[in-house]
Amino acid sequence: MSYPEDQSGKNSEVPFQRACRPLSRLVLTGFMGAGKSSVGALAAQELGWRFVDLDGVIEAMAGKTIPEIFRAAGEAHFREQERRALEVTGRQKEIVLALGGGTIEDPDTLAYVLEWKETCMVFLDAPLPELLARIRGSRHKRPLLGQPEALLERHQRRLPHYRAAHVTVATGGLDQTEVCARLLQAVRSWQVEERASDGNLDGKP
Ligand code: S3P
Repeated sequence: MSYPEDQSGKNSEVPFQRACRPLSRLVLTGFMGAGKSSVGALAAQELGWRFVDLDGVIEAMAGKTIPEIFRAAGEAHFREQERRALEVTGRQKEIVLALGGGTIEDPDTLAYVLEWKETCMVFLDAPLPELLARIRGSRHKRPLLGQPEALLERHQRRLPHYRAAHVTVATGGLDQTEVCARLLQAVRSWQVEERASDGNLDGKP
């Protein structure tokens, strides 16, 4: 894929992996239905990296599905397993990692991910009505689908945590391919800005 010129005006037709600030992980956050898994898989393909779905890691480690974990031991236990899965996954490189919608609800977990080196965390931000429509239309089983008011409350509670991500991509009304293109472009701009704020403006790795 091609990128627009970066802030230094240089031709930015360079492989993403080599662009400015070294990066070996993209971490996608956002509410249920934000497209973390579908867009994450596309972005991984584009980068030649591996796609990792944190829910999948949790299920593999527990030998149970997410709804089974919630049914057997409740949300608090699920969050502990989620944190363990995150600690295992955080050691891997060249991955695009889709978090669960609630992974960053615990401020300690949020801070933990934000401390990872060579990592850009991206918030996929869609309007709540669009998220709710996608969640309802999905075959994916989600244990936390309660009353709309409860979902609204969860969404409100989590928003400041999602907004702590390095980059926010507004996804309303866009298809997955468009979101993926915007995401990669936004991450690259972030890399350039971060490098400039390091006082290193020549663009050399
Ligand atoms: C959850 C979101 C789910 C999954 C679990 C809890 C949440 O992931 O981790 O059902 O708390 O929002 P998705 O965001 O991929 O649906």
